[in-house]
Amino acid sequence: MERKKITVSDLMVKKETGKKITMITAYDYPTARMVDQAGIDIILIGDSLGMVVLGYPSTVSVTMEEMLHHSKAVTRAVQYAFVIGDMPFMSYQTSVEKAIENAGRFIKEGMCDAVKLEGGSEVVPVVKAIVSAGIPVCAHIGLTPQTATKLGGFKVQGKDAQGARSLINSAKELENAGAFMVVMECIPDVIASRITDDLNIPTIGIGAGRDCDGQVLVYHDTVGLFDRFTPRFVKQYIKLGPMIVNALKDYKKEVEAGIFPAKEHIFKMSEEEARKI
Ligand code: KIV
Repeated sequence: MERKKITVSDLMVKKETGKKITMITAYDYPTARMVDQAGIDIILIGDSLGMVVLGYPSTVSVTMEEMLHHSKAVTRAVQYAFVIGDMPFMSYQTSVEKAIENAGRFIKEGMCDAVKLEGGSEVVPVVKAIVSAGIPVCAHIGLTPQTATKLGGFKVQGKDAQGARSLINSAKELENAGAFMVVMECIPDVIASRITDDLNIPTIGIGAGRDCDGQVLVYHDTVGLFDRFTPRFVKQYIKLGPMIVNALKDYKKEVEAGIFPAKEHIFKMSEEEARKI
């Protein structure tokens, strides 16, 4: 079957027909190519970039310029996946005008299809404004890493009735504000399931159980390239980190032993030409 670029309507159809949506992060050209080749529906240039690629202790230091630099690399590689740029901390909080301007940069400069931002009811005016400017917005509720300190750390959210009610209300308000999708991070599966039933737009879970319309993971967690810590909701499908270290050890050994470069890696010239030098 001929593959076509994924659109917001395709994601809506998946929700309506009960087909699961797949999403993963990518931050560079070769990774984005592989994700696209694997047929994943959505690539998120997450602000997790800060931790898994740039080595920051958290996502709060990530800047617009860093996000745009990596967005450009990803979108140069992608043919089919829907691409979402993650708005970094303080790129949408200071004013609605600044939020629209920065969301616009993800579309105009980063060539993304949509933006994502974190927060519940408090970000509804910003979501409305960005959507009114013609930019699709993906919401992100539950554990919102940019404001994890305010939430009391990296903890499961919505575990008591009051917290759960607040998540359910926020999700509906964000849908009404025009969000086309909601990411739900680290919330009990029963609440994620209830929100998924309540909403007409797709829900994407990360640590939110099986009943969401789709799932998202951080690429470096999924392929074993980030060893600082692994959250419980992650499944590691391959351990690339140790495999790469072993390959690099082999390279070092071969160079030191004079085995690499071998005959097939060396360029020769004729003896006659060499004599003329
Ligand atoms: O930044 C990110 O990678 C994210 C996902 C965890 C959803 O926001």
